[in-house]
Amino acid sequence: MLEALTEQPADKILQIMTLFRADTRADKVDLGVGVYRNAAGVTPVMRAIKAAEHKLWEEQTTKAYTGLAGDPAYAEAMIDLILGPEADKARIAAAATPGGTGAVRQAFELIRMENPGATVWYSDPTWPNHVSILRHLGMQARSYRYFDSETRAVDFAAMMADLDGVQPGDIVLLHGCCHNPTGANLNLTEWQAVADLLVAKGATPMIDIAYQGFGDGLEADAASTRLIAATCPETLIAASCSKNFGIYRERTGLLIGVAPGADHKARVQATLNHLNRQNYSFPPDHGARLVTMILTDDALSADWQAELEEMRLGMLELRTNLAAELRRLTGSDRFGFLAQHRGMFSLLGASPDHVKALREDHAIYMIGDSRMNIAGLNAETVPVLAKAIAEVGV
Ligand code: LMR
Repeated sequence: MLEALTEQPADKILQIMTLFRADTRADKVDLGVGVYRNAAGVTPVMRAIKAAEHKLWEEQTTKAYTGLAGDPAYAEAMIDLILGPEADKARIAAAATPGGTGAVRQAFELIRMENPGATVWYSDPTWPNHVSILRHLGMQARSYRYFDSETRAVDFAAMMADLDGVQPGDIVLLHGCCHNPTGANLNLTEWQAVADLLVAKGATPMIDIAYQGFGDGLEADAASTRLIAATCPETLIAASCSKNFGIYRERTGLLIGVAPGADHKARVQATLNHLNRQNYSFPPDHGARLVTMILTDDALSADWQAELEEMRLGMLELRTNLAAELRRLTGSDRFGFLAQHRGMFSLLGASPDHVKALREDHAIYMIGDSRMNIAGLNAETVPVLAKAIAEVGV
């Protein structure tokens, strides 16, 4: 068997990571994988994480298994962060997962197990791994239009027109904030219209929230998820701590199931536990424990929020500066959308040839669809990128 394995499709984000690592040019610029970097190009361990790790090292007396769903205190703290302290916990089940991807995978598995006929609707474009996992699981999936390549904003009319085709029992996958890859997001009026449509259609929303705190702030970035969970009878939420706690390699995620009523919670919880047991048994604990320590300690939490806010404001400044520099160089406002987008990413709207020219002639690496990681820039590389974009003629 092993000598004749079929070749698996390449992941376009990981492909760019490999190409970047192999490039020996000293001035190369990495705008590929979605990892935050500071002005010095470093992905720092956040101060509160360091402090929590220190404390944990001193105080932890056992590494025996936690529960199948992880430590309940982690779920509780995360539910507060995402759904707000006012959320009706009597309806909410949750299980720790290995990263946000683990939560996405477990949600898809739950859907496939319970409703194999359901179609999962995803935005065009979306994070490529959404589609890849759906394919891997052999699930029915369909895209809905999302991005207007002219304005580089959400094409809301097209999105709603496509979602009109959703059938009862279907799942609609939405990005809670900081849409990946486009950076273009719905406003709250539009979110409400989506929520109302899903209720009318009898469809279930599934929210992927991986960048809370990277867009307009921790509370503002959770507003759409809260609105959906408050409007729809049931909601699945796949959350990641990789980015906002900077603990990428600790694989810290949470799958939340908001059940239609309190009497359904126990079954939802048992199902999440079962899925964990089948796939990897107990979820990883280290990152989840650090997050719990931070979220339940006022001083650590305040410091984490302050550092996260610095990161967010830094990315906004890079956006504003890049848009201004492009305005100066091109004499046009057509890159103004870069300052309007939110989160780590913007879809530049460059052709594959432009992306190739940026990589080959300017050592600037972005994903093939022209997704740029804004956090890969700094004060020196903003003008370099702007000049290259103008030169290749995007
Ligand atoms: C990304 O979109 O670049 C990140 O979510 C990292 C990944 O695993 O793809």
